[in-house]
Amino acid sequence: MTKQVLILGASGQIASHAIHFLLNETDDHLLLFVRHPEKLSNVDEQRETVITGDVLVASDLDSAIAQADAVYANLRNPQIEQQAKNIVAAMDTHGVKQLVWISSIGIYDEVPGKFGQWNNEQLGGGKKDSYLGTYRAAADVISASGLDYTIIRPAWLTNKDEVDFETTRRGEQFKGTEVSRQSIGKLVAQVIEQPQKFARIDLGVNKPGTDGDKPAWY
Ligand SMILES: NC(=O)c1ccc[n+]([C@@H]2O[C@H](COP(=O)([O-])OP(=O)(O)OC[C@H]3O[C@@H](n4cnc5c(N)ncnc54)[C@H](OP(=O)(O)O)[C@@H]3O)[C@@H](O)[C@H]2O)c1
Repeated sequence: MTKQVLILGASGQIASHAIHFLLNETDDHLLLFVRHPEKLSNVDEQRETVITGDVLVASDLDSAIAQADAVYANLRNPQIEQQAKNIVAAMDTHGVKQLVWISSIGIYDEVPGKFGQWNNEQLGGGKKDSYLGTYRAAADVISASGLDYTIIRPAWLTNKDEVDFETTRRGEQFKGTEVSRQSIGKLVAQVIEQPQKFARIDLGVNKPGTDGDKPAWY
């Protein structure tokens, strides 16, 4: 049976790569959930359905999740913890188990050395209301759920045309400084196709050989 994959924040940059891989490498049907449908181009009506909504509006989310077999959240904004709570609640209501959640490097203070120090300075390490603080709170909501979640913590993102990545597990030190959005999109597609293999795990993702005190472009 064709799987219905709900993509929350489908107009996002990583999401565009995940969509490419899912359309080309699977038979899944994609439910593209967006606040601004005009940002989507080249929608394949045979394989994709556009749903206009806001993750912060419970009724929008509820009716979308009711149609889904798996959920991939590619979101961003200061209310990220509330978004996580809304998603977990709606998935529990509808008995949907698989959630792929894009988070960030540094939420567990897992980045070693000078780069870790720089990353904390840039992203508000140790402060609850900062980017890292809010992303950590959201990841804690997901981890505490009963869902088959996969949390993905990308390094600093690039738009390089490459798929080249390695992963670290929660509890391990983060490796490298950068990774391409295309790599994260590829990983998302792999996770969606292998729910059991990736269930209840939390991965740092980087491009091999990119260790340094800062990302190369800083
Ligand atoms: N930049 C980095 O180096 C870096 C590193 C690690 C992790 N990250 C994180 O990785 C994530 C994904 O990155 P990206 O480049 O794909 O981000 P992006 O292009 O900004 O995509 C985020 C998407 O979230 C959507 N969104 C936000 N709030 C929403 C809501 N309430 N309801 C529905 N949609 C909502 C946005 O939609 P609209 O178009 O409507 O605004 C946008 O399409 C972000 O959380 C980012 O912070 C970034």
